[in-house]
Amino acid sequence: MAKPTSRFVCQHCGAVAPKWTGRCESCGEWNSIVEEAIATRPGPAGKGAAGRRVTFVGLAGSAEPPPRYTTGIAELDRVLGGGLVPASAILVGGDPGIGKSTLLLQTAAQLAQAGRRVFYVSGEESIEQTRLRARRLGVHDAPLELAAAINLRDISASLQAAGDAALVVIDSIQTMWLDSIESAPGTVAQVRASSFELIQLAKAGNFALVLVGHVTKDGAIAGPRVLEHMVDAVLYFEGDRGHQFRILRAVKNRFGATDEIGVFEMTDRGLAEVANPSALFLAERRGNVAGSAVFAGLEGTRPVLVEVQALLSPNPSGTPRRSAIGWDGGRLPMLLAVLEARGGMRVNAMDVYLNIAGGLRVSEPAADLAVAAALVSAATEQPTDPDMVYFGEIGLSGEVRQVAQADSRLKEAAKLGFGQATLPRRVARGNRPLAPPDGLQLTEIGHISDLVARFATNSIGPT
Ligand code: TYD
Ligand code: MG
Repeated sequence: MAKPTSRFVCQHCGAVAPKWTGRCESCGEWNSIVEEAIATRPGPAGKGAAGRRVTFVGLAGSAEPPPRYTTGIAELDRVLGGGLVPASAILVGGDPGIGKSTLLLQTAAQLAQAGRRVFYVSGEESIEQTRLRARRLGVHDAPLELAAAINLRDISASLQAAGDAALVVIDSIQTMWLDSIESAPGTVAQVRASSFELIQLAKAGNFALVLVGHVTKDGAIAGPRVLEHMVDAVLYFEGDRGHQFRILRAVKNRFGATDEIGVFEMTDRGLAEVANPSALFLAERRGNVAGSAVFAGLEGTRPVLVEVQALLSPNPSGTPRRSAIGWDGGRLPMLLAVLEARGGMRVNAMDVYLNIAGGLRVSEPAADLAVAAALVSAATEQPTDPDMVYFGEIGLSGEVRQVAQADSRLKEAAKLGFGQATLPRRVARGNRPLAPPDGLQLTEIGHISDLVARFATNSIGPT
């Protein structure tokens, strides 16, 4: 049988099929299968081809921590686990327009200004456009080496000739084109092959490589998803374009902790670091409004306080709306049902709107108690205590459950001047004593009805 000369690759998930189908069997996406030629390479280890011997070593040899270049942007360094590692590859993903190019141009310029050799290859914008951006960011004096190119053979030759790069930024990987692959830039085959080539270059040239990758509308990274396993770190740049906050999140990091976040603010002069995100997220809070509660959350290892807002309005039609922004939309009906069944609140015939102020996305179940407090506060039209934070998970029987890292949440609350916290009943684990509450007054509750009762003592009471 003749060897097939082409294969069919899903541009959504990267699955390979022997024949074309209208719908990818692996991810279910329609019209995502594209024919790609199979590159014919000089045969690898065939019969008789003698491979070189690999040297196997023990685990106990020397293992120095990798050297690092600090980028001068502390929020980025934190997410990277302490700075850029030479000979490593980092994928920075995010929606178009979120600020990836801005962040990387700032980073590249900083590093160049610190005396390192930095190359910035833009496949999307012209030299003029990038210069204009640099001027706007106030970094146009940085001795950065800029090129607008997409041909990987040329880029590779130039980098090899240069020799001593510390950082190479490829913006974006979807625009790169390797002439040995017969498919258009941005296809899975091109993205994968171009990345492979660049990563080999980074290893040989001992520079840190940053690949920028766009995410498709529904959150999946078409091309870049297939390279998550090829790179050493994957960072996502996220945020809501309507808000000025941007969050850089590590989802994979071979040289540091994942789930670490860096917080930035998009200003008219580029991205500014936000060293104290809680203060920023709470900046516009008005303490005396019903339906607002402060959640002491955790992003990675970092405590972050955010305001949860709830609005209830009667809906006599019998099909009330439930809408949640920045929080799990499926958890809201569950929490409302628990409040109704276990807390004695009547919220069934109400439209319920929930919002995490500032555009942050909260995914922790620990937010349940703060959400419940905001809901009860809205329903009873009583503001929560302005110096109170809440955290705790709520179960279906209305019980308030323990969450991780209560201590660091309390510490952050105390640091920001809060005086009280409502939290799950704490239990001493083994002989570890309960940590001192940092001057906070703690209200430990075991059941959702304890929360409702705190509002019900007032004249209005639950509806
Ligand atoms: P950009 O870095 O081009 O996004 P990406 O590379 O992820 O596609 O960011 C573009 C957006 O950022 C654009 O809408 C304008 C805005 N922006 C600012 O608000 N201030 C600035 O100083 C810059 C350079 C961009
Ligand atoms: Mg860009």
